[in-house]
Amino acid sequence: MEKTFLMIKPDGVQRNLIGPIVERLENKGFKLAGAKLMHVSESLAKTHYQEHQDKPFFGELVDFITSGPVFAMVLEGENVIDTARLVVGATNPQQAAPGTIRGDFGLTVGKNIIHGSDSPESAEREIGLFFDESEVLDYDLIN
Ligand code: CMP
Repeated sequence: MEKTFLMIKPDGVQRNLIGPIVERLENKGFKLAGAKLMHVSESLAKTHYQEHQDKPFFGELVDFITSGPVFAMVLEGENVIDTARLVVGATNPQQAAPGTIRGDFGLTVGKNIIHGSDSPESAEREIGLFFDESEVLDYDLIN
């Protein structure tokens, strides 16, 4: 079954939004296969966001993601990569539709509450960066 990586950023954690966000993801039908509250080191932040290293906001991005704890998740489900991105909403909360996580909770593109993998390749890479194999659990949901 397909897996993806989602991470509630420091603004979401510090605004006490872990519960409401996880509730939306669980209600959608996704299975939480891994989850942890953690600090992101500068080195992990730079590796995770390496595709943005030449962007003018890269320093700001690394500073922000290392500024407080994040809530990292592995979600599993049919078409979870694309469907989770729909639940998360557009990168810029100013363009994110109401009803999406960023549309309902976010205000600025820098502090946009949550990150989600954008492709099968990035999902595999990001799960591997944030989780040991033993932290991704296999179990059945009861319908
Ligand atoms: P995320 O999904 O975590 O992936 C890269 C992040 O870069 C993105 O969410 C935004 O938070 C951030 N980002 C994108 N564009 C800008 C920008 N113009 N200024 C600051 N941050 C940005």
